[in-house]
Parts: sequence; C-alpha cells; structure tokens
Amino acid sequence: MNLSTRYLGLRLKNPFIAGASPMADDLDTVRRLEDAGAAAIVLPSLFEEQITREQLAGLALEAHCESTAEALSYFPAAADLPHGPDEALERIRKVRAAVEVPVIASLNGTSEGGWLRYARLMEEAGASALELNVYALATDPLESGEEIERRTVAMVQAVKAELEVPVAVKLSPFYTALAHFVRDLERAGAGGLVLFNRFYQPDLDVEGLDVERTLHLSDSTELPLRLRWLAILAGRTKVSLAATGGIHTARDAVKAVMAGAHAVQMVSALLRRGPEYLRLVRDEMESWMAEQGYEEVEQMRGALSLARCPDPAAYERANYAQILQTWRAPAGW
Ligand SMILES: Cc1cc2nc3c(=O)[nH]c(=O)nc-3n(C[C@H](O)[C@H](O)[C@H](O)COP(=O)(O)O)c2cc1C
Repeated sequence: MNLSTRYLGLRLKNPFIAGASPMADDLDTVRRLEDAGAAAIVLPSLFEEQITREQLAGLALEAHCESTAEALSYFPAAADLPHGPDEALERIRKVRAAVEVPVIASLNGTSEGGWLRYARLMEEAGASALELNVYALATDPLESGEEIERRTVAMVQAVKAELEVPVAVKLSPFYTALAHFVRDLERAGAGGLVLFNRFYQPDLDVEGLDVERTLHLSDSTELPLRLRWLAILAGRTKVSLAATGGIHTARDAVKAVMAGAHAVQMVSALLRRGPEYLRLVRDEMESWMAEQGYEEVEQMRGALSLARCPDPAAYERANYAQILQTWRAPAGW
C-alpha cells in the first residue's frame, strides 16, 4: 500500500501530520509522534506580539508605538508563554535533530512588519516549510474585507521574499470570497493552504461577570466545513491543501483526501488519546483502502471534489434546497 503524498513540494510518507500544538514542546513526544507514523510535525506558533514585544524592549514607547503597546498589554506576558523568539528557534533546531520527518515552523500574526524576518531565522534553524497563521477577527469598522485580504497577501509576499522553503497559509473560513482570496494568495507565492483555523469561542460567566476561557478540543462534527471548502478549492487552485479541524478517525482522513486534501493535520485527537493514536488511524486508513481496492492515496485524492463541477455555487444552493425538504415531523409531534 502506498500512502505517500506530496504536500508543499515535500514528499510525505503518508498524509498524517501532527498539527501545531504544545505536543512539539517535548522532544520525547515528538519522537513518539514520529514513531507512530507522523509524516511531518508542525511546531507551535511564534506570535507576532512575542517578537514585537522583544523588539520594543529597551525602546521607550513613543507616541507612534502606543497602539502597539496597548495591543501588547492584552497579550500574555513572556513569563506566561513557554517560548520567546530565541527559544522558538532553538526548539526548531532540537526537533530537527530529534526526528527525520520534515519539521514545519509556524508564525502567527496579522500585520506586515519586521517581525516577519523571523521566517528566515526559522528556515535557517532547520524548518522544511513555514505555516503562516493569520488568526484575526475583523473588528475595525474602518477596515474593509479587501484591505484585510491585501494585508495578508502583503504578509505572504514579505515572508516569501525571506524564504527558500515553501509557505502554507493557515486561514479561517470567514472570508467573503474565499476562492478569490485563495487565488491572490497563490499569486503572492503561497504554496499551500491549511483549512481551517479553529476560533477560540469565549463563553460568558454571567455571575462572575467575566469571560470564560475554556479550551474545547474538537470532534469530527467540525470536519464538514473543511470538506466543503477542500472540495470547492481542489481543482481551482494549484497549491497544496491540508485539512485541520475535526480529523479524528481514518474515515475523517479518507473524506478529507477524497475532498481534495494532500495532507491532514491532527491535534485534538492526539491531545486526547496520546501520540500513539496516530498509528491506529493510519493503520485503519490502510486497511480501509485495501478493502476498497485502493493501492495509493493518490487514487482517492479528489474523488469527491467539485473540481469538475462547473458551478459549485449552484450545486450548493440545490443541496441546500433539497436538504430543507428532508425534515419530517416526529411521530406524536
Ligand atoms: C492546545 C492547542 C494549541 C494549539 N496551538 C496552535 C499554535 O500554536 N499554532 C497554530 O497554528 N495552531 C494551534 N492550534 C490549532 C491546531 O493546530 C489545529 O489547527 C486545531 O486544533 C484544529 O485541529 P484539531 O481538530 O485536530 O484539533 C492549537 C490547538 C490546541 C488544541
């Protein structure tokens, strides 16, 4: 059985990647992930605010820095974060030395600026590729969707200018015209997309008058949103596609690949069940493929994509109209 795939120009021995998470903070866990079959390992993100904070340290915060200073005042203090910029680079070197599979570094930020120079340092430290996570909420009434997209495109161009290795952009699903934006990202030099960021969803503590910051791990119900966009984008973009969010079983992985993914990233399932769970999922995928008569992952990829559908939007509307007709009143209702 040939599970190998190409993602971001890298030859991976199978489609299973350990996604960005604290798992890679521990070298023993990193080795366990590789032993369990992880084909690549994404490191936790280094945040723009961590870098700019370090760059601002020692400088008097002058008037032009005020908005940055305010933004930083919400951000966790360096002591509360496991790794500053230098430690993040050191972690890349250590993980690189500990495993043979590709190591993908991650930068997380929203604006173009000097902080993006860390991309090059990450490559020099041994990253085989870089994930640029553009986690952000559009809260500014004066900034249009087009401006936000332009800013992200400029970030990708700036990062590409620093790097030889490929860049994947980790996006949220909340763009008005995702297919158009993806085209712009591709033109800017993105080599891949990681679909999608999961948004942290705060709840409210109405007695304590506070925000509840609870970490909810995902389950497979989050996958269909990814499947939809993988299926729409496969065949409409040349960049590599990775699914993140809701990959918990071999069946989830098969669905993502059939929708068009080159790779799938797992985090919540591994955090919940441990690194060795990856081996079980990989083995189950292999068994399922054998049962179904597939010999290679490449034979399945895109089998359920909308690459040949001339009008995915019309198809979506038709599905929507049909699904609404399936509701039936329960007996005794
Ligand atoms: C504890 C934790 C830490 C994470 N840290 C990062 C991070 O540093 N950078 C990043 O891009 N994503 C991070 N993520 C998001 C995951 O990489 C992944 O995209 C998300 O959890 C969805 O995948 P899943 O359903 O397999 O969990 C983190 C997720 C969790 C649960």
